[in-house]
Amino acid sequence: MMGLEIYRGDITRLAVDAVVNAANCSLRGGGGVDGAIHRAAGPELPAACRRYPGCATGEAVITPGFRLPARYIIHTPGPVWHGGNHGEAELLRRCYCNSLRLAAERHLNSIAFPGISTGVYGYPPEQAAAIAVAAVRSWSEAFPHRVIFVVFSAAAEAIYRRQLAL
Ligand code: APR
Repeated sequence: MMGLEIYRGDITRLAVDAVVNAANCSLRGGGGVDGAIHRAAGPELPAACRRYPGCATGEAVITPGFRLPARYIIHTPGPVWHGGNHGEAELLRRCYCNSLRLAAERHLNSIAFPGISTGVYGYPPEQAAAIAVAAVRSWSEAFPHRVIFVVFSAAAEAIYRRQLAL
C-alpha cells in the first residue's frame, strides 16, 4: 500500500528519489516551480533537457537532479485550464500516471509532486487535487511506495487534507 503524504514548502528542498516539475512543453524552464527547480538544480539542467525534443502535455521525461537534493527530476507539462471541456482532466491525470510510470521503471522509492497546472496554468485547485489523489491511489505497482504532495499555501494544504480524508 502506497504511503501518501503532504509537505508544505519548497519542493526543491526535498531529498526524495524524484521531484516532479510542472514544466512547459519546451522544457526550457519558466517561472513558478519550474523556475525554482531550474535555479536550484543549476546550469547542467538545461543541457539535460535539450536532449529531449520537448515534451507534449501529459507526457513526462526524466533528468538527473544535479544540484538538487533529489536524485531525479521528472518534467511533465500540465494542461492549461480552458474551462474544463478541452480534455484537461485526462491530460492532468496523464501527468501523474506518466510521472509514476517513469519512477516505477527505475524502482524509485519516493516521488514528490507539486500542484501541477494549479498556478500559471489556472487549473482549479480542488479539481486538480482530486485528480492527483485519484491517479496516485489507482497506481498499483510496487514502486514508488512513497508519494508526497507538495503544497505551497495553507489553502492548498487544506484542499489536499480534504481529498486524502475522502
Ligand atoms: N515548491 C513547491 N510548489 C511550488 C513552488 C515551489 N518552489 N513554486 C510554486 N509552487 C506551486 C504553485 O503555488 C502552484 O500551486 O506549484 C503549483 C504549480 O504552479 P506553477 O509553477 O505556476 O505551474 P503550472 O500552473 O503547472 O504552470 C506551468 O508555468 O512556470 C511556468 O514553465 C512553466 O509554462 C509553465 C507553467
